[in-house]
Amino acid sequence: MSNAIESVLVENRVFPPPEAAVKSARISGMAAYQAMCNEAEKDFEGFWARLARDNVVWTKPFTKTLNESNAPFYKWFEDGELNASANCLDKHIGTPVENKTAIVFEADDGAVTQVTYKELLARVSQFANALKAQGIKKGDRVIVYMPMTIEGVVAMQACARIGATHSVVFGGFSAKSLQERIIDAGAVAVITANFQMRGGKELGLKSIVDEALAMGGCDTIKNVLVYMRTPTTCNMVAGRDKTFTEVLQGQSTECKPEPVNAEHPLFILYTSGSTGKPKGVQHSTGGYLLWANLTMQWTFDIKPQDVFWCTADIGWITGHTYVAYGPLAAGATEVIFEGVPTYPHAGRFWQMIEKHKVTVFYTAPTAIRSLIKAAETDEKVHPKNWNLTSLRILGTVGEPINPEAWMWYHRNVGGEKCPIVDTFWQTETGGHMITPLPGATPTVPGSCTLPLPGIMAAIVDEQGHDMPNGSGGMLVVKRPWPSMIRTIWGDPERFKKSYFPEEMGGKLYLAGDGAVRDAQRGYFRITGRIDDVLNVSGHRLGTMEIESALVSKTDLVAEAAVVGRPDDLTGEAVCAFVVLKRPRPTGDEAKKIADELRAWVGKEIGPIAKPKDIRFGDNLPKTRSGKIMRRLLRSIAKGDAITQDTSTLENPAILEQLAQKS
Ligand code: WTA
Repeated sequence: MSNAIESVLVENRVFPPPEAAVKSARISGMAAYQAMCNEAEKDFEGFWARLARDNVVWTKPFTKTLNESNAPFYKWFEDGELNASANCLDKHIGTPVENKTAIVFEADDGAVTQVTYKELLARVSQFANALKAQGIKKGDRVIVYMPMTIEGVVAMQACARIGATHSVVFGGFSAKSLQERIIDAGAVAVITANFQMRGGKELGLKSIVDEALAMGGCDTIKNVLVYMRTPTTCNMVAGRDKTFTEVLQGQSTECKPEPVNAEHPLFILYTSGSTGKPKGVQHSTGGYLLWANLTMQWTFDIKPQDVFWCTADIGWITGHTYVAYGPLAAGATEVIFEGVPTYPHAGRFWQMIEKHKVTVFYTAPTAIRSLIKAAETDEKVHPKNWNLTSLRILGTVGEPINPEAWMWYHRNVGGEKCPIVDTFWQTETGGHMITPLPGATPTVPGSCTLPLPGIMAAIVDEQGHDMPNGSGGMLVVKRPWPSMIRTIWGDPERFKKSYFPEEMGGKLYLAGDGAVRDAQRGYFRITGRIDDVLNVSGHRLGTMEIESALVSKTDLVAEAAVVGRPDDLTGEAVCAFVVLKRPRPTGDEAKKIADELRAWVGKEIGPIAKPKDIRFGDNLPKTRSGKIMRRLLRSIAKGDAITQDTSTLENPAILEQLAQKS
C-alpha cells in the first residue's frame, strides 16, 4: 500500500465548517450540497442550463445546452453568444460594483495601485482599440508574455473583448519555449513588457521575446507591444515593436465588446503532457466563463465585501480562472501581487493580508511549506506577527497538501476559524472539480473531499470499472462539464487519445491522476500523477520534455532518463540519469557537467525545469528489448533499496553505479 493511500485511511481529524460560514454561505450545509448534486443527477442538462442562464450575460441566449453528437468534442450552449470581457466588466456598469475597487495591485517594491471596475473597463477598452488598430482581429491568436501587473490582466481582457484568442506564456519560460508556443499557436502578435520586477531584480522579458523571434519560424508575428514596466530602455525593432504608450495614443476608452459564439476559443494555454511536446489546451468562452464565475461563488462563497487574493501567476491556469476572469466576473475586489513571497522577507504574504484586509486567500502548498520553513527558522516572519483576522476562507491548489502543512495553515494563518478549501483541478478542467464547500463540507487534512455539483468524478480501474471506496485507482470524470478542455490546439487526435482513451470505452475523461476515496465519507484524496508528468512546486513538467532538452545537448549527452522523487519542500523533484558521450565523470568534473546541464535545461525550457539531482552512468537500466526501466530509476532516485524484480534487466550492475550520488 502506498503511503498516500495509507494516510487517507488513518486520517481521522475532521473539521466541521464554522457556524458563521454555514449561516452565510450560498451553499449552506451538506443537505443543500446534496440537493444540488441530486438536481444534476436527475436533469443534467436542465441543471447546467439553469446555471448558465443565471450566471452568464448572453447577447444571444442559447437554446441548446449540450451537444454530444461528436463526443468527446462536446459543445455547450452552442447557439448562444456572449463576450467574456463584457461578462467581467460591462455587466457591473450601472450597478453598485462600478465604482468598487476591482484590482489592488501591489508591486514588488510595495507600491500600491488601485483601479475601479469603471476604470478597468476604460483601460481594457482602450487597449482593445489599440489591438484593433494594429490589425488584430477576432480569431487571431495573441501571445501574452507579461509580468504580474494590472496590464497583464488588461491585455488578456482586451483580447477577449475583440474575440482574439490569447495564449499566455509564463514569464519564467525560456526563449525556446516561447518560440515553440508562438509557432504552434500561429500567433500574430506578442504582448510583453520591457522587464519584470521580482525580488528587487529587474529581469528582461523583451530580450527573451527578441531571442525567441530571432530563432526563426515566427513570421506570423507582425506586432510586439511592449509595456514599459521600468524606465530602463530595451531594444525596439522599428515597424514591429511599439510601446503601450505609442499604441494607446489617441485611442478611445470605449470599445463595443465583440459577441462570440459560446464555443469560440477564449484562450489556449500550454501545459506539459506525457510526450515531449507541450499541449495547447483550448478553452471555450461560454462554458469556461460560467464555471469561472460559479466556482468563485461556490468554492470561495465570494461576497460584495470580500477582498480576494489568489497568488498564482497569470501564466498558469489558476491565474486565468482566479485572477483574470473569475474574480471580475463575480464583481469581487482582488489583490494582484507582482513579486515573490520571500522578498523582502518571508512574511510578505502575511503582511499583505493584513495591509489589504484580505478575506479569502488562495495559494499553493509549496508556498505554504516554504513559508513554514522560513517561520521555523526566523520568528520574525511567522504569521503571528501580523493581524490576519480579516481572513474567513483559505484555499490551496496545484498539488496534494500534506496534512502537516494543512494543520499549520489552519492554525497559524486561519486562526482555527477558516475553512480550508483544498481545490483539485487542472489546466484542462478550466476550474475547480473536487473541493470542499466552505459552508457545507466537513474538511479532512489532505483531502479535496467531494466533487462540485454537476461534476461526475469517479475512481476506476484500467478498464474503466468503478473501484470501491478504500481502494485506489484512476481519477476520471464520467460526464462532460461546461468548462472542460475542448481540444488540443491543432491536434484533435492527441486530445482524444490523451483524455478519452479507447481502452476505457472512450467516454471517460481521464485526469492523469491517481486517487482513493475513504470508506467512511467517500472523500477523495489525490495520490499524484499516474503518467509521465511531474509536479514540482505545483508546476507541471513532462519528464519527456526534460529528457528531450537534455539529449538536445548533442556534444555532451548520449542518453537521458528523467523521473521524479518526493521532496519535502517542492512536493516532487526532478531527477535526471544521464549517459555522456565521454567517460562517466566523477567528483568535481561531475559537478561541473551537472551544472552545465542544469543551465542548459534552464535555457531550453525555463529555470523551473532544472533537474535537482543529476546522476551519471555508463548506461541506463534497460530490458533486453532496450526499454529503459523507469520504475527502477524511481526507486534509485528515492534512495530506496531495489526490491523489484530485476531478472529482465540487461545490465544489473548499472544499478549500483547509478545509486551513487555524484
Ligand atoms: C495536481 C493546476 C492534489 C494534479 C490547477 C493535477 C492537485 C495537476 C490539486 C494539474 C490538489 C492540482 N490536490 N493535486 N488540490 N490541484 N493538483 O494543470 O496532479 O497546473 O493533475 O492545474 O496538479 O496541474 P495544472
